[in-house]
Amino acid sequence: MKYTSQRGTKDILPSETPVWQRIEASCRRIFGLYNYAEIRTPVFEQTELFSRSIGTDTDIVSKEMYTFEDRGGRSLTLRPEETAPVVRACLQHNLISPENITKLWYMGPMFRYERPQAGRYRQFHQAGVEAFGSTDPMLDVEVIDMAVQLFREIGLTDLEVDINSVGCKKCRPEFIKKLTKYFTDKTSDLCDDCKKRLVKNPLRVLDCKIQGCQSIIKAAPAPVDSLCRECEEHFENVVACMDEQKIKYKINNRLVRGLDYYTGTTFEVVSDKLGAQNAVCGGGRYDDLVKELGGKPVPAVGFAIGLERLVGIIGSDVQSPKSDVVDVYLIAIGEKAKNIAFDLASGIRKAGFSADMDFHGKKLKSQLKLADRIGARFVLILGEDELNKGKIVFRDMSEGKQEEIKCDAATIVEVLEKNK
Ligand code: HAM
Repeated sequence: MKYTSQRGTKDILPSETPVWQRIEASCRRIFGLYNYAEIRTPVFEQTELFSRSIGTDTDIVSKEMYTFEDRGGRSLTLRPEETAPVVRACLQHNLISPENITKLWYMGPMFRYERPQAGRYRQFHQAGVEAFGSTDPMLDVEVIDMAVQLFREIGLTDLEVDINSVGCKKCRPEFIKKLTKYFTDKTSDLCDDCKKRLVKNPLRVLDCKIQGCQSIIKAAPAPVDSLCRECEEHFENVVACMDEQKIKYKINNRLVRGLDYYTGTTFEVVSDKLGAQNAVCGGGRYDDLVKELGGKPVPAVGFAIGLERLVGIIGSDVQSPKSDVVDVYLIAIGEKAKNIAFDLASGIRKAGFSADMDFHGKKLKSQLKLADRIGARFVLILGEDELNKGKIVFRDMSEGKQEEIKCDAATIVEVLEKNK
């Protein structure tokens, strides 16, 4: 019996972790620059939290959630996204109030039972931000700018920011009316899922990926044509601020996003290097969600970046940073030498240098080859001769030079410091 990772999940191997670490470090740095604080929430939550916020008719809730009953009979779900858990945590711990701006960021695995393909996984990772407490269009732009700065720091420049407004609960009914009228005339050409969506939540017809529906969706009314004065003004201000900040964008009237909680601004960052799953980041405003989940009305805006897609664009074969290379490799010949080397390794590590040693009892020549292969900067050799003299050979691998030094941790560390 051979076990393999589950469909839609993947191991991130040691050769790939350097690029992940680089991206994670950039996220921390950039989010910190904008004064966002980190929050970590559990990977599972009460199912209702997601159905209520994302919407029961969305693909995520109706088809893609990992939902299970625990031994206590509770319905739980592995988080498909992190906005709802963050709002839940904020309400539970009183982190937000209408008077303050609360800025939070997160990073971690999300779970969606989707059909796996390039850039689409069942377990994937998001890094995201949520800002609570203001309807100021500048905050929308700050959030978008943060994503752009992050991509710039990582070295991605050929990305496109798409923005739109999906309206609020005042103007949305008007849009839905127009949409329903438009699709009702064409019901017979819609797929079976869309026929149901049309009755339950017509907005969700716009998410359909089926070819036949796509051609109908193309000519459907856009939310931007039904915006109320407030939403229109907000969107105009967002666009004006984007211009002032010289952030390049494209207005995409079709961008409604696949989650029900959005109000007003929606945006995605897309890359043509990604094929069908081209969105590397998605977000927008959700001014009603905090109230919907039991809090006072507090407006909010945020985004999440798909880290697998980011790695997919920049490639995973980034050179290991120097810190991943071991400083010292200890070669001991014989059991007594091995015991001493084990102690020395421990002393070397305490001084802050990385150290590794052989556990196979291999011959000197093959151990030296191994030390070279793993990129050890220095090698310490302790054979019978050295043992008798109380010495150890210190070899600088890059220069090929070696000398005999006193065999104790303090001397070794001193020489390491000198050669640093
Ligand atoms: P979302 O568009 O569902 O939004 O996901 C955000 C990003 O996560 C996507 O743009 C994509 O890069 C990545 N992603 C989504 N599903 C998958 C998958 N199956 N495999 C790989 N990557 C995936 C949200 O999740 C919202 N919570 C974003 C947000 C935060 N809105 C406001 N605040």
